[in-house]
Amino acid sequence: MIRVSNLTKRYVGRTAVDAISFNVEPGEIVGFLGPNGAGKTTTIRILTGYMPATSGTAVVAGHDIFRDSLKAQQRIGYMPENVPLYDDMRVKEYLRFRALLKGMRGREAKNGIAEAIDLCGLTEMRSKMIGALSKGYRQRVGLADALIHNPDLLILDEPTNGLDPNQIRRVRKLIQQLGLSHTILISTHILSEVEMTCDRVIILDRGKVRAADTPENLIKNLRTAGHISVEVNAAADMAADAIRTIPRVKKVIKESTEGTWTKFTVRAESGADIRESIVALANANHWPLREIHTQGASLEDVFVELTQSPHPD
Ligand SMILES: Nc1ncnc2c1ncn2[C@@H]1O[C@H](COP(=O)(O)OP(=O)(O)O)[C@@H](O)[C@H]1O
Ligand SMILES: [Mg+2]
Repeated sequence: MIRVSNLTKRYVGRTAVDAISFNVEPGEIVGFLGPNGAGKTTTIRILTGYMPATSGTAVVAGHDIFRDSLKAQQRIGYMPENVPLYDDMRVKEYLRFRALLKGMRGREAKNGIAEAIDLCGLTEMRSKMIGALSKGYRQRVGLADALIHNPDLLILDEPTNGLDPNQIRRVRKLIQQLGLSHTILISTHILSEVEMTCDRVIILDRGKVRAADTPENLIKNLRTAGHISVEVNAAADMAADAIRTIPRVKKVIKESTEGTWTKFTVRAESGADIRESIVALANANHWPLREIHTQGASLEDVFVELTQSPHPD
């Protein structure tokens, strides 16, 4: 449904998107994940035809987005990061206006609007002024707008940004429901959302794709990469420095202290099992060791692992 190949976007003095390639298959819900400034919005604005790329190609539903942008756009429902709504319009007036802008007329527009209102749970709000709506309902109006022309691909840029947990839950349900009949690319930095909603995750950092896989595989790979909890009775900084000297250790994080005991999380390179080395180190230094075990990883750990340089702590 989406084929991106070597896509690059350079702003003056800065490369926002650096030769990225990824695919989204029909029917998938794909999470587009990354810290602020990773290049998510830039990529999305290129895919939706709002901005040219510096180089590379992107094909949406078989249409090259640079040579055939109108045809591509007809297949995409795009919800931008900050939905520009008109507060002094009623919901249905606004959607009618948007349908007109998309070139829809008569029955086609009427049906498209009615269906979008129904799908987004806006029936009771359709005659309300947009300015009087809660943030959650405003997001739904943005989503309805993206759906009017019945696209088969939805590209949503941080659709739950600024919502409270209850609103997030309702919008997430709505996205899951839309996922039954649409391909969805959804950018977000809310990880729990991705774990619950997405078939696959693309992790972007500093303009590059760092990983693209199912949430389960990303977590599984990290777990075998070694993610170890250790509790020793030793001076914390000295112990941390000593653990860092163990080959293939990537990161040592001090989690908590209790009296003279300190608990660390130790991350090692993929495939390295460093538990024995830690025990040997503790013995050699005569540090009492009261706990050592491998930790279950979460998608958050994957995110932190892939989007930060080693040893920042
Ligand atoms: N119009 C612009 N001009 C110059 N730099 C920009 C512009 N838009 C975004 N950037 C920069 O490009 C990088 C990626 O931004 P963006 O795509 O908005 O990231 P994200 O959506 O992942 O937070 C950032 O460093 C940002 O400051
Ligand atoms: Mg953004």
